Amino acid sequence: MKKLSARRRHPLAALVVLLLALAATGGLYAALAPQKAVADDTQQSLAIEEGKKLFSVGCSSCHGMSGQGSKADGPSLVGVGSAAVDFQVGTGRMPAQQPGAQVPQKKVAYTQAEIDQLAAYIASLGPGPVTPSKDQVSTTDASIANGGDLFRSNCASCHNYQGKGGALTNGKYAPDLTGVSAKHMYEAMLTGPQNMPSFPDSTLTEDNKRDIIAYLKEVNSDDSPSPGGFSLGSLGPVTEGLFGWIFGLGALIFVAIWVAAHTTKAKKS
Ligand code: HEC
Ligand code: HEC
Repeated sequence: MKKLSARRRHPLAALVVLLLALAATGGLYAALAPQKAVADDTQQSLAIEEGKKLFSVGCSSCHGMSGQGSKADGPSLVGVGSAAVDFQVGTGRMPAQQPGAQVPQKKVAYTQAEIDQLAAYIASLGPGPVTPSKDQVSTTDASIANGGDLFRSNCASCHNYQGKGGALTNGKYAPDLTGVSAKHMYEAMLTGPQNMPSFPDSTLTEDNKRDIIAYLKEVNSDDSPSPGGFSLGSLGPVTEGLFGWIFGLGALIFVAIWVAAHTTKAKKS
């Protein structure tokens, strides 16, 4: 005990304590923090590496060896972001099979893990819209009424009032939105596939997007009420008009014939 207290007063004691403290913090830092960062980094570059391989096999014939695109077969993917890849491959549009007015949806050709790798590779080519997280697409607190307003002013011109879809010019069409996952809806708005305009957060905020998703889920769920009577396929004025013409006009003609038949009888007697 005496020895220790004697050493404590040694001129170098403070220095030794300082060095020990530094070594301890340095050691702790080396043991804990950077390893995670390094692990994340290597995982990310592994995903990019794998994605690059998948890309050169399945996509480069149209989009070019490094995603730069080719005039005839496919657009450049530099800067389209992971969200565009997740949407296009996740809904079975990509890989496209043949040229046409609009690439149709097919069976999804990759697992979600592979899609994530492809997306990581494309995202590494240039910054673009990022695949949304689960929280970003959650509609727990969303306003269905506001979503309906936004949908009617921004989307109904192409997709119809309840998202049942419709034809566009030159053989293109806006698809029926029934059964599309919340994530893919969000990504469609972010990236604007094909003829669809994109709605970045400056046009429709994250909350706006969630409201629209909540509206679409509500009107397309099986038990959504149809307060006006039969929903008639929710196609709006076209089927309603047809219904009016066939049944309404049919009934009027029937009444006219009935009236005519009865007036002639009345004259004879
Ligand atoms: C047969 C040719 C072909 C193949 C193969 C193909 N694509 Fe495409 N890709 C296209 C065409 C054409 C378009 C434009 C589609 C459109 O406008 O409808 C496109 C569009 C895209 C877009 C949207 C770009 C944007 O601006 O939003 C992405 C993302 C994409 N492709 C990713 C891929 C990935 C990933 C693969 C491989 C799994 C792939 N494509 C395979 C032809 C192809
Ligand atoms: C100018 C017409 C137009 C407008 C406006 C428009 N869309 Fe689209 N939308 C399209 C077309 C065309 C496609 C199909 C793209 C393709 O096949 O590559 C599409 C695709 C989609 C898809 C993907 C559907 C699927 O089956 O995978 C969703 C979701 C979607 N739109 C939602 C919206 C929402 C929400 C809005 C409003 C914020 C909107 N769209 C506005 C034309 C439009």
